[in-house]
Amino acid sequence: MDGNGRWAKQRGLPRAEGHRAGAESVREVMNACKELGVKYLTLYAFSSENWNRPEAEIDALMTLLDHFLDEKAEELDKQNVRLQAIGQIERLPASTRERLARIQEHTKDNDSMTLVLALSYGSREEITNAARRIAEAAIAGTISPDEITTDLFARHLYTADIPDPDLLIRTSGEMRISNFLLWQISYSEIVIVKKMWPDFRQGDLFAAVEDYNNRHRRFGAL
Ligand code: FPP
Repeated sequence: MDGNGRWAKQRGLPRAEGHRAGAESVREVMNACKELGVKYLTLYAFSSENWNRPEAEIDALMTLLDHFLDEKAEELDKQNVRLQAIGQIERLPASTRERLARIQEHTKDNDSMTLVLALSYGSREEITNAARRIAEAAIAGTISPDEITTDLFARHLYTADIPDPDLLIRTSGEMRISNFLLWQISYSEIVIVKKMWPDFRQGDLFAAVEDYNNRHRRFGAL
């Protein structure tokens, strides 16, 4: 969801206003995904590197997130949507952690769509963490090195029970991945959209899905 800051700057507004407008896009895109029958929607809302931003911006983002969670808690459940958070959740403020824990527990059996929020998320950290846990299990003797397969590795990631994404959309025209789901996007189709995230709305999502539908996925085969 890139480009909130530039969207605000282009309008002479503080960056936090860009994030506020970005949260509107989140609401619209979520509903559009639900309408399309998307089973998993993962939003990269806060990266491990975003902790290096000014405190005021981090506070504004966490407050937006808390409001979003308060506002959506009931609706997610009514719409049969499950919420899941991935990332170093323990680094988030207690108020956000409590909301996430409560809503995740409350919606855990919902099965129409899973909304995955990547928060304090970094892919290299996720992969390193998985390697560490597998090494610990090997030292403890509960797995042997020849049992370490790609499937076993994937089960040690935050996304253990989430399928790999079919489509990755990045807004603002940047041609990079920025430490997002590096393992999981090995065969994902990528759509880069020039619009800034706050301008990305339902029609843009439909266009990206249409683009995806016209691709021929080969997963490395012919
Ligand atoms: C990247 O744009 C965006 C973020 C770091 C935050 C994304 C957060 C939201 C859209 C709102 C809150 C989230 C939810 C789930 C309600 P940037 O700030 O890096 O933009 P720039 O590259 O133009 O500076």
